[in-house]
Amino acid sequence: MSLIEEINRRKTFGIISHPDAGKTTLTEKLLLFGGAIKTAGAVKSNKITQHATSDFMEIEKQRGISVSTSVMGFEYKGLKLNLLDTPGHQDFAEDTYRTLTAVDSVVMIIDCVKGVETQTEKLMEVCRMRNTPVISFINKLDREGRDPYELLDEIEEKLTIKVRPLSWPIGMGKSFKGVYSLFNKKLILFKGSKTQIDRNEFVEIENIQSKRLEVHIGKDEAAQLREDVELIEGIYPELDVDDYLSGDLAPVFFGSAVNNFGVQELLDCFVEIAPVPGARHTELRKVGPEENVFSGFVFKIHANIDPRHRNRIAFVRVCSGKFERKKNYFHIRQEKNLRFSNATAFMAQNKETIDEAFPGDIVGLYDTGNLKIGDTLTEGERGIFKGIPSFSPEIFKEVENLDAMKSKQLDKGLRQLMDEGVAQLFTFEMGSRKVVGTVGQLQFEVIQHRLKHEYGATCRFRSLNLYKACWITSEDKKNLDEFVKSKYRHIARDKEGKLVFMAETRQWLLMVQDNFPGVDFHFTSEH
Ligand code: G4P
Repeated sequence: MSLIEEINRRKTFGIISHPDAGKTTLTEKLLLFGGAIKTAGAVKSNKITQHATSDFMEIEKQRGISVSTSVMGFEYKGLKLNLLDTPGHQDFAEDTYRTLTAVDSVVMIIDCVKGVETQTEKLMEVCRMRNTPVISFINKLDREGRDPYELLDEIEEKLTIKVRPLSWPIGMGKSFKGVYSLFNKKLILFKGSKTQIDRNEFVEIENIQSKRLEVHIGKDEAAQLREDVELIEGIYPELDVDDYLSGDLAPVFFGSAVNNFGVQELLDCFVEIAPVPGARHTELRKVGPEENVFSGFVFKIHANIDPRHRNRIAFVRVCSGKFERKKNYFHIRQEKNLRFSNATAFMAQNKETIDEAFPGDIVGLYDTGNLKIGDTLTEGERGIFKGIPSFSPEIFKEVENLDAMKSKQLDKGLRQLMDEGVAQLFTFEMGSRKVVGTVGQLQFEVIQHRLKHEYGATCRFRSLNLYKACWITSEDKKNLDEFVKSKYRHIARDKEGKLVFMAETRQWLLMVQDNFPGVDFHFTSEH
């Protein structure tokens, strides 16, 4: 197969949702359709429950699970689909944000009872940064949920994206009869089968005025469906695939993942319209996937669970050309060539050594500490891929070393955990105080635990009252110098040495921004 053929048969995507909306369930059903697993229940939830906050065994176990489900490759209708998993727990949201930089499109699940929830809003903001195409799946139709029109309006309003329903539910909860597919004009009747990939019962109904509709769903329901379909076709223009591809419009499906209902319609539409790997930008130029030389970037690092073996797995998204095992690749940041003799590919839940990989694929590279998130590998070119940001953390704590004899170990441990992207480290200019910033409480416990067990260092965290870390830049160096001088006590450096303003409150930040119009404040930073 030629490189172009390999590219055109790949679709790399992620599923985003608020915890509990049905991500694990939908993932499993997709894998069942792809024949990658045989029975339901095979996909372990990567959920870390609340009580696990103090249960480190549970956290360790989850780390193990999340390696094996990080990337699930499967075949469907001759295509190779790469599904990248995202952590369910919102304390690990940053990991999810970064994973989204490695996908070409997403499926967004909305719980029909709860509607658009906070985590979905945040994740959509990240998708919007790269105009990632989104298909939405409104789940749990077997439960009494909210009015479908209301749900569509809420998606448009809260997520600022146009919608186009491609299926329509007939009833809901106890009276749920099925969906009518506006995409391929079929009636799909709901039976409710949790474990099998039974073919759902389809009835081809080209014209919904047909009397056969009553036979299948009843008189009142048929009348209601006709009214709904007329209304939808009136309100929403035809699906414009280009609008979907530019991230402006989300096609919407309705179904019930646990009952395996509506999943195939979603998948069939996905394989038809979802984008294949496209061009990506480096600092120097646009790199097309079809270019013959290999390039790729690291978006995730996973430490080995066994602390005696310090190697880690770096997840690399292939952007162009062909990746080949045992070939030397140029590591731009370190300006050296690296060779990976045991590259791994991910198929469903199995890791296997691979000899080659193509754009859209994710390869796992065993690494002893050379690679970090945001690194680019090439065949010699020096352009680093853009668009892998760090986000301002939400919780900040100062690190206090509890064992003066182990300060080297503490520094090393912190540095390595930060390379993995567990959290972000800021060092105040004044007094070199070290501050760890995260999006969730759980990370602090993970860091403390891992520092002790993997590096032999003990530390304590002292809470700090900080609102945001803002990366500061200015077109005029004089403005920046003046700002740094005036706010010296609140200036820190991130681990790349970039200047950061540590704002204590929102109001104060707004005031400071007003007072220093020549300084730009950023809530994200490129790696
Ligand atoms: P997540 O990964 O997004 O956090 O969600 P997950 O798939 O684990 O689903 C959360 C809960 O919602 C699960 O129930 C799951 O069975 C249920 N669920 C998923 N899809 C549907 C659906 O279409 N209809 C209904 N009624 N429920 C659905 P649980 O009680 O937490 O777990 P379990 O004991 O059922 O596995």
